[in-house]
Amino acid sequence: MELNENFLWGGSIAAHQCEGAWNEDGKGLAMMDVATSGDVHHDRLIHDEKLPGYTYPSETGIDFYHRYKEDIALFKEMGFKTLRISVDWSRIYPNGDDEQPNEKGIQYYQNVVDTLLENDIEPIVTLYHFEMPLAIVRKYGSWTNRKTIDLYLRYCKTMFEALKGKVHYWVTFNEMNHIDSQMALSDFFTYFVAGIKYSELENAPQTLATCAYYMTVASVKAVKLAREIDADNKIGCVFGLTPNYPYSCNPEDVMLSFKRMTRDLYQIDAMCYGKFPEYKLHEYQRLGIQLDVTEDDKMAFKEGVLDFLGINYYASEVSIAKEKEDMEKAFFGGVKNPYLKDSDWGWSIDPTGLRYLLNFIDRRYQLPIMITENGLGAVDVVSEDGKVHDDYRIDYLKQHLSALKKAVIEDDVNCIGYLMWGPIDLVSATTGEMKKRYGFIYVDKHDDGTGSYERMPKDSFYWYQQVIQTNGKDL
Ligand code: BG6
Repeated sequence: MELNENFLWGGSIAAHQCEGAWNEDGKGLAMMDVATSGDVHHDRLIHDEKLPGYTYPSETGIDFYHRYKEDIALFKEMGFKTLRISVDWSRIYPNGDDEQPNEKGIQYYQNVVDTLLENDIEPIVTLYHFEMPLAIVRKYGSWTNRKTIDLYLRYCKTMFEALKGKVHYWVTFNEMNHIDSQMALSDFFTYFVAGIKYSELENAPQTLATCAYYMTVASVKAVKLAREIDADNKIGCVFGLTPNYPYSCNPEDVMLSFKRMTRDLYQIDAMCYGKFPEYKLHEYQRLGIQLDVTEDDKMAFKEGVLDFLGINYYASEVSIAKEKEDMEKAFFGGVKNPYLKDSDWGWSIDPTGLRYLLNFIDRRYQLPIMITENGLGAVDVVSEDGKVHDDYRIDYLKQHLSALKKAVIEDDVNCIGYLMWGPIDLVSATTGEMKKRYGFIYVDKHDDGTGSYERMPKDSFYWYQQVIQTNGKDL
């Protein structure tokens, strides 16, 4: 048996990591425009405004804004069936609450989508990938305020109408689950998701729960709206999930692991089961957290059940109830898995984790699943022959795709697509670096500001082309 012939092969990119043109054609200031570059040892800094002497990598990205035609032609050459892009909200409503949308911003996304369609590439559009206008954070307090739901829905409506009949796959949010997951204990994760810094919150549990709840309500309402505008729309939401293993068969490790594996799922439950889960409301009650749950929200959960689930998968985690002092900590939390190797950025490499996660999510939700991100961030070197021989990337992707294939063929998981993260090198979200490269396509841009921005296929480009051409037959 082989993968379905309609399997969606492709890749995923996000506006703030590739577009650049941060102040062109009426774009407003967005959250990531004031995040500096960092590296594996230094966090990105988040400023209130742009300061002299710092690099803000989203300013230029990889200049996709001006080069999208050339880039899409390369994706076409690889045989992409689909490309997931994101719309930068601040291009459409620069301040979030502007009376009229910015026509030039809309036009830009219409042009990108038209170019994709001309190249027979199905667009998948994410409406919120860490790109909220900063003015909403400042004026309304971001997702701590119910008013932000209305602003978000107005923006969604503008995009659903502007791309009606052209875009059929929509993603309401990227990785909203990081707002109050264990990742949120750093400023950067709460900032990514909502433009707020964890360390500055007076009552973090309450604030994060409120943001998480309002975003969940916003997502289910957007699902309903998308269907009203075009009954052919298929709407998903993307979650960044890390399967969790117990360190041993000690029941305490198993229990902790189960808790961590499921702690980020309450938002998915709310979006798939037609109601916000009671177990989460009870947990909030025990913690003294108050949520403003209205009758209108309850109806919205019933009416806004997702069509598909997007999963971003990069690594797995290990939980141990009693950590020993000499145990090494892992990037995503917990301790290092002695059976796995890490990437240069400390992310564990675990193809079986992908198969495990696909099974877990399939059995729990019974909805079509798309792997909306997966890939290897690595240092690439241009060899003397002028090429990038990235066999390590090919090896990583081959192992992950073969695990995915087993999940579909042997385990009967309903996985409808695989979108490799960063099919073209772009700015890393966690570190702001160019050095952490994911692409099939090399971009000549460097962290010291040098580079011609020229594009060049790496060895993996031709490998993925072959995978798509044969529909993954030889994986
Ligand atoms: C995902 C995000 O969580 O991880 C992407 O959706 C991000 O935006 C990707 O780029 C990989 O992370 P990084 O830090 O290596 O770019």
